[in-house]
Amino acid sequence: MIDLPAFRNALLEHFDRTRRSLPWRSERTPYRVMVSEFMLQQTRVETVIPYYERWLRRFPGWGALAEAGEDEVLRAWVGLGYYRRARNLHSAARMVREEYGGRLPEDPEALRGLPGVGEYTAGAVASIAFGRAVPAVDGNVRRVLCRLFDLEAPTAGRLREEAAALVDPGRPGDFNEALMELGATVCTPGTPGCGVCPVREWCGARVAGTVGQRPARRPRREVRRVGYVVVVVVERSAGVGEPRGPARSPRAAGNPPSAVTLVRKRPATGLLAGMWEFPSLELADDGKPGHLGLAAAATRLLGDLGVHARPATPLHPVRHAFTHLRATYHPVICFPARPHPLPPPYAPPTPACATTPRGSRPATPVPHPTPLTIPPPVGDTAPDHPPSPTWIPLADLDDLALPAAQRKIAARLRTWLRDNPRQACG
Ligand code: ADE
Repeated sequence: MIDLPAFRNALLEHFDRTRRSLPWRSERTPYRVMVSEFMLQQTRVETVIPYYERWLRRFPGWGALAEAGEDEVLRAWVGLGYYRRARNLHSAARMVREEYGGRLPEDPEALRGLPGVGEYTAGAVASIAFGRAVPAVDGNVRRVLCRLFDLEAPTAGRLREEAAALVDPGRPGDFNEALMELGATVCTPGTPGCGVCPVREWCGARVAGTVGQRPARRPRREVRRVGYVVVVVVERSAGVGEPRGPARSPRAAGNPPSAVTLVRKRPATGLLAGMWEFPSLELADDGKPGHLGLAAAATRLLGDLGVHARPATPLHPVRHAFTHLRATYHPVICFPARPHPLPPPYAPPTPACATTPRGSRPATPVPHPTPLTIPPPVGDTAPDHPPSPTWIPLADLDDLALPAAQRKIAARLRTWLRDNPRQACG
């Protein structure tokens, strides 16, 4: 039996002494707590800190987030991965504004009705932001509890019950964070610091000598391997689409001044929903095509897109691991066919939009002219199939919500253009 008051005291005393100073631990408004908990789902504290600080500057409260466009929200999340969290947080902000009068509900059940808020997040927010005595079991807490109660593979329900009985009604938020922190810094997976653990005297696994086996490893998820051909259509001297701002600006470095490339927004559902990408097509043969196979796949994709271009040069593949998917992207530089209609002039910046962190407005891709069909402007509601591609100056690519693998492809393209200055397009 655990002596609850002694256990809570020992844990909280340790937490008060050793707690990390983290930006979301000062000024605990419900909004700040919610943003931090969304970012911390699946992502390490050290990674989250700079994103969190930038996010708060850009979207300081529910109103600012609810009013922002989807592209802007996704762009601010680029680099954190698991982009569904950003879309959910954005939708949650709109629900808070529309259904709760701009105030986050305090009740864990009401919190669970918001997009992206599961059992864990509801418990964390209700306890940390509102002082509700409810448990919050994330991966770190799960490990601590499995060791404390010497459990091999308990159900989520069992763990929630154990955690609910432990939580300190006087300081529930601190208590839950103390458990998380213990899991992250002391009761770690590999070599736990049992010697310095403030609650070691109550640890069942330590007594049983099973710390190394608790919790039992979960069976590995099956991972699918998929290859994609990616068409990187580039027009080096379009004569339009000059990057906004002076060409000498650091972000223009490495970008030929007038090069434009073709991108599209991904559908509103599924993997990387709403993000931008170079158009791609899943390969039939598990991602290892020969050059000929790749060129044929690129030609087929260009045909599907209605783009008059020819595959010219494959770039080095880019690999990326998603939760259930190992993707290999095979980029192919493609040159528009000649005669090639120039894209329309790039829209000049409007002062009203000049509010992004780097002082530039969010990129607005330009529709490709005929012979491509010109799609309606892509806003918050991308359809379930990819919209037609649009041109964007290479120098403005970084302003798009472009996921990590696509950024690597863009970097390979820039290097190739720099190393092959004379290679003509067309
Ligand atoms: N992981 C999830 N939420 C956390 C928090 N509030 N503090 C530290 N780590 C966390």
